[in-house]
Amino acid sequence: MTRVLVVGASKGIGREVVRQALDAGHTVRAMARSADDLEIKSGDLEKLNGDALNATDMKTALRDVDVVVQALGIPLDMKMFTKPVTLFSEATRLLVSEMEEAGVRRLICVTGYGAGDSRKSINFVQRVPFKLLLANAYDDKSIQEELIVTSDLDWTIVRPGILTNQGKSGRYRVLVDETQWRNGVISRADVADFIVEQIDSKSMSGKKPVLVRFPL
Ligand SMILES: NC(=O)c1ccc[n+]([C@@H]2O[C@H](COP(=O)([O-])OP(=O)(O)OC[C@H]3O[C@@H](n4cnc5c(N)ncnc54)[C@H](OP(=O)(O)O)[C@@H]3O)[C@@H](O)[C@H]2O)c1
Repeated sequence: MTRVLVVGASKGIGREVVRQALDAGHTVRAMARSADDLEIKSGDLEKLNGDALNATDMKTALRDVDVVVQALGIPLDMKMFTKPVTLFSEATRLLVSEMEEAGVRRLICVTGYGAGDSRKSINFVQRVPFKLLLANAYDDKSIQEELIVTSDLDWTIVRPGILTNQGKSGRYRVLVDETQWRNGVISRADVADFIVEQIDSKSMSGKKPVLVRFPL
């Protein structure tokens, strides 16, 4: 039984990871500012209200865990377009340093297709909407990826395409080689399926796969 910390566990991919990691027999600490709102119940689940930007909260969250899944997100509102985004880089700078101090080595982090070196593979048609709508968030996700790649951690960066709330299909493409990288659609449940598989596997260590079910 692996002890898993999920940072960003109250909604979206994080919540799906909590559900599926428990089903897989792991012990889960679910952290978010509103972790209490998580409706999942299990004797193997601990809900921890905490802020990923707060060092004391992160020290508490990292106590006695083997693997960290970071699945932070920001609300889709006007601020995302008008103000620089810093959550991903700030939280990751803190997380990497606290993991190194706590001796926790395995990190599985969700960023997105278009972060870091995957940006160059965005096709001509999608490049303009990407720049208009997502540039602020993805500039910060690129810094986030760089902090992880240059750390001493045992990391996997997970880059989903456009997310849906459909159920788990278990049928999606894991595009590891950069010549294959392209955008597509995938459910949060399928992203969680991939992440939970990585909890006890080293096969994707040091890799940054793009995940899509239906390529666009
Ligand atoms: N939407 C897409 O099509 C798409 C495509 C590719 C990648 N992505 C990326 O995938 C990731 C997950 O997205 P999602 O929509 O599944 O998640 P989401 O619904 O945005 O959930 C984000 C989680 O982060 C937590 N969080 C935010 N700030 C926090 C803080 N300071 N401290 C602790 N927890 C915090 C939230 O909980 P609290 O608010 O309770 O703290 C929530 O549990 C995001 O990074 C997103 O950008 C999205």
